[in-house]
Amino acid sequence: MPTQFDVAVIGAGAAGMMCAAVAGQRGRKVVLIDHAGKLAEKIRISGGGRCNFTNLHAGPQNYLSRNPHFCRSALSRYTAQDFLGLVKRYRIGYHEKHKGQLFCDDSAEQIIAMLKAECDLGNVAWRMPCRIDAVGKTGAGFRLDTSAGEILARSVVVASGGLSIPKIGATDFAFRLARQFGLKLVEPRPALVPLTFEQSSWQPFLPLAGIALEVEVETGEKKERGHFREDLLFTHRGLSGPAILQISSFWQPGTPLTLNLLPAMDVAQVLIEGKKTLRKNLGNLLAQWLPARLAEGWLAANDFSAEARLADMPDKALRRLGESLNGWRIVPNGSEGYRKAEVTLGGVDTRELSQQTMMASKSEGLYFIGEAVDVTGWLGGYNFQWAWSSGVAAGLSV
Ligand code: FDA
Repeated sequence: MPTQFDVAVIGAGAAGMMCAAVAGQRGRKVVLIDHAGKLAEKIRISGGGRCNFTNLHAGPQNYLSRNPHFCRSALSRYTAQDFLGLVKRYRIGYHEKHKGQLFCDDSAEQIIAMLKAECDLGNVAWRMPCRIDAVGKTGAGFRLDTSAGEILARSVVVASGGLSIPKIGATDFAFRLARQFGLKLVEPRPALVPLTFEQSSWQPFLPLAGIALEVEVETGEKKERGHFREDLLFTHRGLSGPAILQISSFWQPGTPLTLNLLPAMDVAQVLIEGKKTLRKNLGNLLAQWLPARLAEGWLAANDFSAEARLADMPDKALRRLGESLNGWRIVPNGSEGYRKAEVTLGGVDTRELSQQTMMASKSEGLYFIGEAVDVTGWLGGYNFQWAWSSGVAAGLSV
């Protein structure tokens, strides 16, 4: 005998648990289905195990989407302060780390336990681990064929996330289901991801692996332009760190990034003016402003001798050195892909969904929320806030 529910939520991650809890607490009979053996692995590993669960400044300006205004309604109906209120009610210790980013003091497990408790308050039924073989339309709603038997539901909420980190259970389920119901997708691609470079061109920078420093990075033009001032990390395969993760969401294959390794100064000007007064060699001079290993490696990679005395250098050469530091242009050959990406850019086209409820306009009762939707936040708690806000929007509608 099939089991009948008002709502079947597919994916018990951040968005799915939030949606199920809200719908359940409104008196809906909800079932939450997930194929994973372990609950909410992405929350567990997020924020280095401390879950950067929201950002106090979250607004539409912090999200990428074909339609940048789509997220406004859900974000304003369920805000960072609303989620923080829930965190406080559960007496979970938290702190602000950087630019409005809120983290648990102890562990991301506390956020999972809180969402689980909220689902329990809504009497949510669980099917987990449970494989979904097919979803079909019936007269009164939907039929799900699953490894736990047939499930009937008036509404289906797809909260199965994006493609990032397949190792912990990410699948293209949401995108396949969207296509099955005739909904358009914005081509998905990895985002918040380290960028890589062609092996031979990266050779000179290999000795810099492990060095971190604050930089300015930018890419793109006009509306699509990204610009961040964050930490950069040199790795063996390329560049990482918050600056690169942020800019990776804006970067288009084949185009350059411009990095300013010393954003606080005009290096060429300081070097040329310093020729009269600064009695130092280039290596010692740069090491005043940059990590010593970077100063040394940078000079070698750009064919300068660290021993050369500033006073003996032609202005033209100093200008070249200054420009290399203030405007380093490099073209990545790709990214580390979904294996390392924190999120998936693109997804279910927002033009197919109601911005108030997340329901597909072409298919009554079918909802998409969280990362599956073409709304992608910057690094810094914005992606969870979208999961909470879109989850609540659907939870209040189903
Ligand atoms: P989410 O991925 O959380 O959940 C999807 C669920 O669907 C999973 O439980 C999965 O098992 C299930 N599922 C998938 N396919 C299925 C199928 N075929 N059948 C049944 N179930 C299926 N964001 C942030 O704001 N702050 C942070 O600190 C971090 N940190 C971070 C670290 C790392 C390493 C990663 C990879 C990501 C982050 N993120 C983040 C991003 C954040 O984790 C992400 O945006 C949200 O988890 C998205 O929530 P969803 O509920 O949409 O998907």
